[in-house]
Amino acid sequence: MLILAGSKSKVLGQKVARTLGVAPVEYESKRFPDSSFYAKLMDPASVRGQEIAIIQSCIRDEDIIELLVLQEMVKENGARGIITIVPYFGGYARQDKVFQPGEPVSARALAKLFQIYSDQVITVDVHSELVSRFFENKMINLSPAEPVAEYLKKHDVNWVIAPDAGARSRAERISSLMGVQTDYIKKKRIDSYTVEMDLGHIHVQGESVAIVDDIISTGGTMLRAFEELRKKGARNVYAVCTHGLFGIFHRDIIPSLKKFNVVCTDTIETELSMISVSGVISGTLRRF
Ligand code: R5P
Repeated sequence: MLILAGSKSKVLGQKVARTLGVAPVEYESKRFPDSSFYAKLMDPASVRGQEIAIIQSCIRDEDIIELLVLQEMVKENGARGIITIVPYFGGYARQDKVFQPGEPVSARALAKLFQIYSDQVITVDVHSELVSRFFENKMINLSPAEPVAEYLKKHDVNWVIAPDAGARSRAERISSLMGVQTDYIKKKRIDSYTVEMDLGHIHVQGESVAIVDDIISTGGTMLRAFEELRKKGARNVYAVCTHGLFGIFHRDIIPSLKKFNVVCTDTIETELSMISVSGVISGTLRRF
């Protein structure tokens, strides 16, 4: 198996290749003046007859096209099979059903696209498990729980808090790996930037706690949870997320987030990607 990293997963791709002891597939790429993406293998023969794992997070729409072009490039040059790793599936995972008449199921459209060239698709902590329905048994959704738990253990955290009911199972899994306590905040979203939180039942006076979520986007959820946990007397508060979208779209919140301990994984490569999912991905690729 060979590893080919797209522009949004360059560092993660290198780590996975190193862990597996394989050289990354080399190619050159550019964008034409009209913004279309171009790529060319340095050594086309290197992919012939090989299984290629292509790794590319899809943060913006252009990343999806890049992924398709990279898949086509290795297929055209004789790759035997393609495993597509999309560490961050993209915001389209949120539109996993029709919420109001007239809407599309955008996650299904993306799932179809990702499967065109792939024998297997691997994601990490996809926003909704419902997305797997759109992949005829071809999708593996990896959990970042182990590397997150490892990181938090080193930082002496003794409570893992989910910032809403939807994040509960992730927090429970991490806390059970760490052997610490867990609870969740009752959250009501008012709009894209505002949330209401009820922590009446949570008692963390003097404790070192971590809030663990899948995404930090505008940072509204984390900042609010942080303030509330501080009011409750928490001694230390870590904010941990799998996908640090704020590093791309809401960079202005970084100074506020840095006031407390915020870390994310490298599914989206940012300056705060202190936790790597490379071990989880490599471990899964070893099974192929
Ligand atoms: C919500 O369902 C998600 O799990 C996150 O809590 C949410 O996307 C975070 O968004 P923001 O950073 O904009 O509050």
